[in-house]
Amino acid sequence: MRALADKKGNTDMLNWDDPLNAPVPTTGAKPAAEHSAEPAAAPAADDAISVAKPAKAAAPAPQKTDTADGEPTTRAAAMEPVNADDKRVINGMTDVNQLAPFKYPWAWEYFLNANRNHWTPLDINMAQDVHDYHHKLTLEERHVYENVLAYLTTSDILAMRNIGLAVMEKMSAPELQIYQARQVYEESLHTWTYQHCLETIGLDQGEIYNRYRVVPEINGKIQMANRRLNSVMRSDIDLRDRDELHNFLMAYIFFAAVFEGSWFYNGFTPIFSLQRRGLMKGTGEQLQYIMRDEVLHASFGIRVAKQIMIEENIRPDAKALKDMWEEAEACESAYADYILRDPIVGYSAEVHKEQYRFIANRRAKQLGVEEPYPGAEAALPWLDEQANMRKEKNFFETRVTEYQTGGALKWD
Ligand SMILES: [Fe+2]
Ligand SMILES: [Fe+2]
Repeated sequence: MRALADKKGNTDMLNWDDPLNAPVPTTGAKPAAEHSAEPAAAPAADDAISVAKPAKAAAPAPQKTDTADGEPTTRAAAMEPVNADDKRVINGMTDVNQLAPFKYPWAWEYFLNANRNHWTPLDINMAQDVHDYHHKLTLEERHVYENVLAYLTTSDILAMRNIGLAVMEKMSAPELQIYQARQVYEESLHTWTYQHCLETIGLDQGEIYNRYRVVPEINGKIQMANRRLNSVMRSDIDLRDRDELHNFLMAYIFFAAVFEGSWFYNGFTPIFSLQRRGLMKGTGEQLQYIMRDEVLHASFGIRVAKQIMIEENIRPDAKALKDMWEEAEACESAYADYILRDPIVGYSAEVHKEQYRFIANRRAKQLGVEEPYPGAEAALPWLDEQANMRKEKNFFETRVTEYQTGGALKWD
């Protein structure tokens, strides 16, 4: 513990073990109510740090009722207990502020599992990547590396907005929202990771971030996702309307099975191919962590979509699915042809496209719908092994902190 003095010489001790019992500052701090919407300024390093006691939680508004003898009394309104069977993924009427009893215990398991893959991009040593990028990568390999990051930087922000702004508010069971809240955090962590890679290597960030706007082959994928997102990011949606419900289901399927389940899953592989050759190994390791999150995101999303199908008695329209897969393949093919216009050692546009089709079939199977690309084969037999992280492979030798990672995660 240490005493910190503000500019007026006041000292307040911050109790690191019990911060709520730290002394209330006597000067300089406004009452909580006066802070209103104003963001608090970050204290300078030598400023006093003080922790005010939080205001007591507001009690529920008391209700005036009459007792049997006619005397008015005051008590909180009683509410019916929550019955797990009444919970619904969407259109539910149970209390969204009450976690248990669970109807979807698997959602809670996803949340616990997600917390086993915890890292920050600062944990991974990028020094060799800086050297590799500037001295070892060919021009073609740099083109691949930069454009993969250019695509991913925008995609993860889109994924965050989809779950946080369009999906979460429509969920009516808290165990689903809690995993999704973690997912929102993870998407922002992924954005930080790409930013960290770009910054560390010294790439022109303005130029990289703008690529999705000026390169049509990257823009095509983003536009397809933006259309889906915009169609469900509206406050006036009534999911009891069957057309709206179907549109929401299709958007959900798109983000889970295509955007995260196929495009993301497949999106890291060009850099994994460099990593396999001993190049950009730090970035490769960062993407291994991200991929581990994304596998859970896709799997969770598919499970939620299937649950919606059961509870709402709805199926995705076959034509709508076919159109979605066709457009997704066209977008992915154009993207692959752009980033791999000149093949690099051990990877090509054709390999990338075939792997996309193979993964998309896997997602369709998980969803319980027809495979869109019959006969597609695994084009990257090394992928599952490469993507997996196990301590015995010494992936963590450069890490500052050990978290519980690795272990039994199925990569489909
Ligand atoms: Fe992500
Ligand atoms: Fe994701």
